[in-house]
Amino acid sequence: MREETDFLVIGSGCAGSSFALKAAEFGKVLIISKAELKETNTRYAQGGIASVMYHPDSFGKHIRDTIKAGHGYCNEDVVSMVVNEAPARIDDLISMGVYFDRDNEGKYDLAREGGHSEYRVLHHKDNTGEEIQRALSEKVKQHPNITIYENHFAIDLLTQHHLGEKVKRSRSDIRCYGAYIFDCSTSEVTTILSKITVVATGGIGTLYETTTNPLIATGDGIAMVYRAKGIIENMEFIQFHPTSLYDPGVRPSFLITEALRGFGAVLRNRAGEKFMNRYDERGSLAPRDIVAKAIDNELKVSGDRYIYLDCTHLDADKLVNNFPNITGKCLTLGIDITEEFIPVVPAAHYLCGGVKADMDGQSTIDSLYAIGEVSSTGLHGANRLASNSLIEALVYAHRAAMHSVKRLNDIELEYRIPDWNFKGYSHPEEMVLVTQNYREMQLIMSNYVGIVRSDLRLNRALNRLELIYKETEELYRKSLVSRKLCELRNLINVGYLVIKMANNRRESLGLHYTIDYPDRKGIEF
Ligand code: FAD
Ligand code: SIN
Repeated sequence: MREETDFLVIGSGCAGSSFALKAAEFGKVLIISKAELKETNTRYAQGGIASVMYHPDSFGKHIRDTIKAGHGYCNEDVVSMVVNEAPARIDDLISMGVYFDRDNEGKYDLAREGGHSEYRVLHHKDNTGEEIQRALSEKVKQHPNITIYENHFAIDLLTQHHLGEKVKRSRSDIRCYGAYIFDCSTSEVTTILSKITVVATGGIGTLYETTTNPLIATGDGIAMVYRAKGIIENMEFIQFHPTSLYDPGVRPSFLITEALRGFGAVLRNRAGEKFMNRYDERGSLAPRDIVAKAIDNELKVSGDRYIYLDCTHLDADKLVNNFPNITGKCLTLGIDITEEFIPVVPAAHYLCGGVKADMDGQSTIDSLYAIGEVSSTGLHGANRLASNSLIEALVYAHRAAMHSVKRLNDIELEYRIPDWNFKGYSHPEEMVLVTQNYREMQLIMSNYVGIVRSDLRLNRALNRLELIYKETEELYRKSLVSRKLCELRNLINVGYLVIKMANNRRESLGLHYTIDYPDRKGIEF
């Protein structure tokens, strides 16, 4: 089976949906989502979306905060561009019907999070992502130029490789012609030929045992682009959110937003000490990498399983009004946050690196764009400033759309691409191996490639992963395609890239902290 389109958008989160809405004014768009349209990382975002709104905030301050949080490893042109274009993208969201909370005077109620020197985070209660996803999903469903395939899984990108040519990463003329798409209900694979292809597949949290990310976050876009011989970078910078609710066995881990600390909540250890003051003058509101490392250290020293977030000194009515979801979720576990401390632990949350993309979202493969969390743009450097990722996705979706529509008339579809070759045969009894390897991989990554690393741990992880890689590739060759098996294969690929890039960085920098090399800035734990 084959289909044709102008724009193939893989992913229906903030990045994919907002790209689709802009591109649909110029051509036919097909959105592919491997789950339900709304099941995205975007939907789970809590704290909000950063943009300079009012005096005394300024673009200069947002730029400085972003670069400082990123440990100076950011691309300063990119930071400046994103910060300057952010207000226009917020206007887009508002005109699409997204509601942000306002204060009594009608001004937007701005929150503050770790590393921000000003209040600049627009939000909708503590479920901003759900509100954004709601509005975007409604709009894409209504658009006459947009077709949506839910429960369809992108397996691989189409390049000259599929025309029988040898494609090396060093080649500068690799081109993307679309993708093979697996229908999870019928198990059929369709060849989608597209003039422009966009990977907006989100993050990789599922690589770890404990993550705030939903199950869809399996790094598919990164693995697909890597297999297509595109360039992937900065994979060692994995952000662990300091405060996910301690609720063993529950996936994904429920996030306790950093905005709660911006609202005045403080971290305490089991002895009741506000331990963050020992690590950073900004205390509980230090940037994420610093807080996560400090918590990791406290837990290792004390042997405790969690630390506490204390909201009990805050105005109870305002607390419940501003954070209704967190209040409700904690109550289901018998915790009244107005009176009791919340037990929290760090959890894998966000990938700063990914598919290398330029300022228009173009990957190193022609006709292929990478936008949103899957991309590595240079905005976040070695550590992302809180609430900078939704805005990055919107800014790049806009730029990629504006850039790609100009190229549309110059690109021909490549009809010589063959259809998917259904090799292999079904092996249902061996699916247990997939589940088992999935678990093992998560354990390896959590135990050896977590917040604190070392050469020994990284090498051990690589050796262990190698075995799982070989078994899984063997299984993939023998089996009929399935979403679970493809995701495992992609995650192993992503894990490999994380370890390799971590191994190559012979220093501690931001989110990559290793006991074998000192921090560039001399911060030690
Ligand atoms: P996503 O929203 O994750 O969308 C990915 C899409 O790709 C999904 O539709 C998925 O089904 C699809 N997909 C993936 N692989 C395939 C495949 N192989 N085939 C077909 N479809 C595929 N950021 C902020 O700025 N502010 C916040 O307050 C904030 N809070 C957060 C809270 C939580 C709990 C989490 C998990 C993240 C938070 N983030 C926040 C980060 C932010 O939500 C994400 O980085 C952002 O939403 C990513 O958007 P995206 O469009 O790139 O990807
Ligand atoms: C949060 O609300 O703490 C998450 C914000 C983010 O990841 O940017």
